[in-house]
Amino acid sequence: MKRYIKSSYDFYKKYEIKVDGGVLQWSMDSPKNPCIWVHGIKVDADKQGQGIGTKLMHKIIQIADQLEVPIELQPAPIGNKAMTVQQLVSWYEKLGFRRQAGCMRYEGK
Ligand SMILES: CC(C)(COP(=O)(O)OP(=O)(O)OC[C@H]1O[C@@H](n2cnc3c(N)ncnc32)[C@H](O)[C@@H]1OP(=O)(O)O)[C@@H](O)C(=O)NCCC(=O)NCCS
Repeated sequence: MKRYIKSSYDFYKKYEIKVDGGVLQWSMDSPKNPCIWVHGIKVDADKQGQGIGTKLMHKIIQIADQLEVPIELQPAPIGNKAMTVQQLVSWYEKLGFRRQAGCMRYEGK
């Protein structure tokens, strides 16, 4: 995987992807070793389990694949009816992420 990028995204600026009822916040970090960091993903409680989170993750994966950079995030459940950490880890694994010290990482296609 190439370690440089040419894109219109500024380093460390926070970007948002929205899909009806869901939002994913991310930034392009580490100029020397570019990586997308997902700050958070959240779907409205009454819309969870309908595939919106998966759609949001597919969008950020598409950006990462285009830019040839990995994605990292920390699986941390928010809300009292949220999935457990283990459920979240499994969910991210299904999307192609792998566990790494303290975070989860998507390496690209
Ligand atoms: C995690 C989250 C973003 C997933 O979004 P979503 O739209 O609900 O996800 P999807 O519908 O695409 O897929 C959810 C999967 O998890 C399951 N799931 C969803 N909510 C669940 C819950 N509360 N408990 C257990 N499983 C749950 C679904 O059955 C589905 O399983 P499947 O892929 O085997 O069909 C969303 O649940 C959320 O906003 N949670 C609260 C915020 C949060 O914890 N964010 C994570 C930060 S790292």
